[in-house]
Amino acid sequence: MASWSGWLAALFIVVAASVPVLYRLREGKRAALGTPPLRAHVLLGLATSIATFVHTGLVLPELGSEAAVGAGGYAFAAGAVAFLVMIAHGGLGLGLRDPKRKDRARQRRRHATTAAILAAIVIAHVVLLMRARMG
Ligand code: HEM
Ligand code: HEM
Repeated sequence: MASWSGWLAALFIVVAASVPVLYRLREGKRAALGTPPLRAHVLLGLATSIATFVHTGLVLPELGSEAAVGAGGYAFAAGAVAFLVMIAHGGLGLGLRDPKRKDRARQRRRHATTAAILAAIVIAHVVLLMRARMG
């Protein structure tokens, strides 16, 4: 139950991030606000937030299970930190939809930095969970 919801959340992170990243690589510039790629990114980003919330919600009743407890504190902490970073990251993204934002360069950098941090922490979360299962 909790495992598939985690994979779904991870998949959404990859798909959401790939829209602005691939656009930049192909076109050599950022997608403009209000254009289809960026609208798709915002929708996928919101879907990503929802997917991580669902995963967290599904996992809460199972936190006493062997899968959760056996994986140890670090695997759990990584999940909890990922959740907090996801909220900060989504908030920054929602703010970036305003074309008149004065500090948009800085906010955009923060949105990109928190995306990278999120990806790294999720990888740690998954690796720690998998190692516990194999060991
Ligand atoms: C951004 C948020 C998160 C993402 C993307 C994420 C991702 C994942 C993934 C991909 C798995 C499957 C790993 C596997 O089957 O080997 C998983 C499992 C799990 N996650 Fe998360 N996670 C997130 C947040 C959380 C939070 C906040 C918690 C705890 C409060 C948590 C606790 C767990 C537990 C206990 C499992 C093991 C479930 C089982 O095997 O039955 N995760 N997560
Ligand atoms: C609530 C969800 C989200 C919203 C509302 C949102 C919104 C935005 C907006 C408006 C931009 C364009 C910024 C600009 O060009 O000025 C952007 C860029 C970007 N977003 Fe999101 N986003 C969300 C979630 C995500 C997620 C989940 C990821 C991946 C982990 C992600 C990764 C990126 C990246 C890599 C860029 C390009 C940054 C750059 O060009 O420097 N976003 N986002």
